Amino acid sequence: EPSPQTNAPAPRLICRWKYDKIWFDRFAPDYGIKIRYFESRLRAETAVLSGDSRCVCAFVNDEIGKDTINELAGRNVGLIAMRCAGYNNVDIKAAKGKLTVVRVPEYSPYAVAEHAMALLLTLNRKTHKAYIRTRDFNFSLVGMCGFDLHGKTAGIIGTGKIGRAFVQLCKGFGMKVLAYDPYPSEIDGVEYTDIEHLCKNSDIISLHCPLTKESWHMIDNGTLSMMKSDAIIVNTSRGSLIDSEALISALTNRNIGGACLDVYEEESDLFYDDHSDSIVRDEKLALLLSMPNVIVSSHQAFLTNEALEAIAKVTLENIRSWFDGKTVNEVK
Ligand code: NAI
Repeated sequence: EPSPQTNAPAPRLICRWKYDKIWFDRFAPDYGIKIRYFESRLRAETAVLSGDSRCVCAFVNDEIGKDTINELAGRNVGLIAMRCAGYNNVDIKAAKGKLTVVRVPEYSPYAVAEHAMALLLTLNRKTHKAYIRTRDFNFSLVGMCGFDLHGKTAGIIGTGKIGRAFVQLCKGFGMKVLAYDPYPSEIDGVEYTDIEHLCKNSDIISLHCPLTKESWHMIDNGTLSMMKSDAIIVNTSRGSLIDSEALISALTNRNIGGACLDVYEEESDLFYDDHSDSIVRDEKLALLLSMPNVIVSSHQAFLTNEALEAIAKVTLENIRSWFDGKTVNEVK
């Protein structure tokens, strides 16, 4: 329906999660935007839900390939507003000339960096196990030993906004920092190097680069084989940066020490839904979850109040601007 304030057609928000809705509902009236929420994931088959709306809002695990884009463009949609930073799930080439894609380039790099550190501290100091044990009055320390982060070397792959925030956390813990980025910047106390040197010399390797053709499976048998046998790999970026089979093999053979994963290659059919009552047939994920030196969270590194508020405001601003004829934060 047209928004009463602006007469613009109402954007439709494909929104499956209550945590997001609170923030969008709070700020949408300020931008004169009316929202309709849908439970379904956005894909070619669900594009029909866009109805007469000119804008669709989507997220990281929606499937926005060529077919979805053609379906949306063939209806009334002119804008896809991604309420996230990454856009590897959108076929930008297919969108060209058909519809505009905008995103939220930055909301809270601290949210993601802090979650990466939370996963690392948890896996290393086994606080997740302590929580379970002590609730059962089991105060044994067997198997609970970790290592000091102080004095260790962190290897950061991708030193953009989130990578830089993670660098500061590592430095706060007294770690030495190595980094690899095709576009290095000046960061105090960071030594840029190549991937090989980084893999060979880091105790912690944390991924903070986007998923592109070049970075797909950048962590594979080759890079894993260069790592220290007790190295911990942290991935809060995108699942397909890591070849899961190669990771499983490196973990099984004790060629690396552990993995902290907020993202997983084949997360899109699983993450953000409760599957606790079904038999999940993803054997790779089942294997990873069974390992004592692996911790998995559900692509939730962004999930702080500050980030959600910023995501809602910037997304609504992006949509408002497009309706007003001045596109901002466009992905080209
Ligand atoms: P950014 O654009 O500020 O920084 C990315 C950096 O990676 C840039 O410095 C770029 O030069 C570098 N880079 C590009 N290709 C590379 C390669 N092949 N190897 C090494 N470095 C490379 O992006 P930002 O905001 O720091 O986000 C990083 C990634 O984090 C996003 O692309 C997204 O995939 C992920 N992310 C994950 C979230 C989560 O909830 N788990 C939330 C937000 C972002």
